[in-house]
Amino acid sequence: MSEQGAAATEAGRESGSPLDPDIVQEVVAVANRAPSIHNTQPWIWTLHPSHLSLRADRDRQLRVADPDGHSLLISCGAALALTEIGLRAAGSDVQTRRLPDPADPDLLAEFRIAGRRQPAAHDTDLFAAAQRRQSDRRPFTPQDIPAETVELLRAAAAGPGVHAEFPVRSEQRVNLAVAVSWADRTEQRDPEYLAEMNRWLRDSDVHADGVPASAIPHVPPGQPRHTDVPLRDFEVGVSGRLLIERDVDEHPLIAVLLTESDTALEQLQAGESMMRLMLEAELLGLGTCPLSQAVDLIAFRTRVSTLMGWQGLPQMMLRIGYPAPGDLQAARTPRRPVTDILKVLPA
Ligand SMILES: Cc1cc2nc3c(=O)[nH]c(=O)nc-3n(C[C@H](O)[C@H](O)[C@H](O)COP(=O)(O)O)c2cc1C
Repeated sequence: MSEQGAAATEAGRESGSPLDPDIVQEVVAVANRAPSIHNTQPWIWTLHPSHLSLRADRDRQLRVADPDGHSLLISCGAALALTEIGLRAAGSDVQTRRLPDPADPDLLAEFRIAGRRQPAAHDTDLFAAAQRRQSDRRPFTPQDIPAETVELLRAAAAGPGVHAEFPVRSEQRVNLAVAVSWADRTEQRDPEYLAEMNRWLRDSDVHADGVPASAIPHVPPGQPRHTDVPLRDFEVGVSGRLLIERDVDEHPLIAVLLTESDTALEQLQAGESMMRLMLEAELLGLGTCPLSQAVDLIAFRTRVSTLMGWQGLPQMMLRIGYPAPGDLQAARTPRRPVTDILKVLPA
């Protein structure tokens, strides 16, 4: 960096450069594409004269599937990561404070601009990947993911307080399958869980949130979909329109994101880690989909950890694999307009 550039950056650091509202609109539009449980989009940004903030929108928390707000924080962590990536891709040197006010736990992050810099090529690539990424619930091809690629995913997911495990040994897969199936059955037997899910299965012509039928897989009768680790079943009073018409025997790579304990900060950081891993996978030509039944509730997270013999707690799980070459991109899941999720305060 030139001396002048360095001086400008230093000055920016002291005063805090103002955020350009047009750039913020663009960044928030992409950060809003973060994945969220049942596409609840439980977030709201506010542009203040000196900084941008991200808050949890508790009205959008799932009362049955997410009573302690764990999935809400994972979702918001993903939105946090995309906000940072977007600001960096726009050439900003961003400084983020997570959970800056203990008296206001729903204030999840504050972003301040300390100066300008040339965007790194990787940030620009990640920002572009964020605009393409979507949860892919179709079967992946049987093609193995090379060990070097798994290491790239591990490195992308690694961050303060979070690391990724990829259980591949057969006894680990059996234990994981048992844990996910047990959590899945427990939830499926709860009429309130089913009713809540049904409320979030929404027609994308009418609603800008929720999971549309076009994103829900449907396997015709007599056409088996064998998978050791079961997917969350969204066909609750609604028939999926994402037709799975070939015989499949799936063994996707499973990523598990672990933290030492279960604090709000760790859940937020696990969401950031999930987002980084998804974007890296997208850049590597891999599809991803969260698979979170076994981590929805603290009782599940603790039980899975014990069953798997892990030190930490699993915060999130993802299926990962190569999309089949002939598969067309499924329709994108909708998002609310930026005017609904970004408040701009007068300068
Ligand atoms: C915390 C969390 C849990 C999720 N759990 C599941 C899940 O168990 N099964 C699934 O198919 N999708 C799951 N998703 C994906 C969301 O349904 C998806 O992100 C949302 O519908 C938006 O779609 P998109 O990711 O394609 O943009 C989860 C996402 C998050 C952030």
